[in-house]
Amino acid sequence: MLNNEILSWRAATRPRTGAAAIAVRSPVLLTSYPLLDTPHCKPSGRTSKLPMPSINNPHFVLRRLHSLLGVVPVGAFLAFHLWENSQSRFGAQHFNEAVVGALAGLNYLPFIEIGLIALPLLFHAVYGLVIIGGGRAEPLRYPYLRNRLYWLQRLSGIGLLVFILVHVGMTRIAGLMDPAIHADLFGHMRAALSNPWVLGFYLLGLWLAVLHFANGLATAAISWGLTTSAAAQRRFGRVCAGFGLLLGAIGTHGLAGYLIAPTGAGA
Ligand code: HEM
Repeated sequence: MLNNEILSWRAATRPRTGAAAIAVRSPVLLTSYPLLDTPHCKPSGRTSKLPMPSINNPHFVLRRLHSLLGVVPVGAFLAFHLWENSQSRFGAQHFNEAVVGALAGLNYLPFIEIGLIALPLLFHAVYGLVIIGGGRAEPLRYPYLRNRLYWLQRLSGIGLLVFILVHVGMTRIAGLMDPAIHADLFGHMRAALSNPWVLGFYLLGLWLAVLHFANGLATAAISWGLTTSAAAQRRFGRVCAGFGLLLGAIGTHGLAGYLIAPTGAGA
């Protein structure tokens, strides 16, 4: 079921009191759906011309896949990647040998990179663009935090797409084309980040990714029916905000590490 249909279906079929009233005001809550049809999401006695959300509807399944892949493996990889990059502060030798070298020596690396990272991210990004294309402008009218996050999720997704393409081109693809870059990825990143524009671009990309992932975790918990009450959604939202700040701090520390760590034998 498409986003618009879910919005209209829920608005048409649920009573507008308590949590339901919050849901009607909040598009993020409206887009969220338990995995399968349950009494929780069935119309309460009223008839609706709109179809029920169903496992037989390809968009329902694709949407769940989009949500799942955003968390695992894409989100899990983002957390790992930021932690891995925070090792930059131990210096060039440590980073090039113990981090980049160790990962480059993994068995089945092409399968891991393409099958577990690139393809899930590609699906998430392409279907994300489909979701953005099918969205409606109405939520812009309501000045609630959840509505702002709804739009930030979409804007950050588009910004991230640009950032990821540039970042992969500058690092992985450049390293494949020039073995000297692959051999000293630390030096390559240090030189690039010494340019204030590139540093600004990376800081923006990092915080967009963290915002998108942290808010995405909160909305995914609603999508999968893990946080059903407004209070649970608020509580988990705070946990996700804290997680996002921690992840952002680790990532910022990693970017700074390229600029301040020793280039020689390491710390
Ligand atoms: C670092 C890369 C990314 C991560 C970790 C990530 C993660 C997530 C997560 C966890 C969600 C929540 C899913 C849900 O609410 O059920 C989400 C939603 C979304 N993502 Fe991403 N994403 C990434 C990149 C992208 C890109 C490149 C796009 C391209 C446009 C994109 C577009 C979207 C959209 C539109 C949504 C909202 C879907 C909705 O409201 O139903 N994402 N993302």
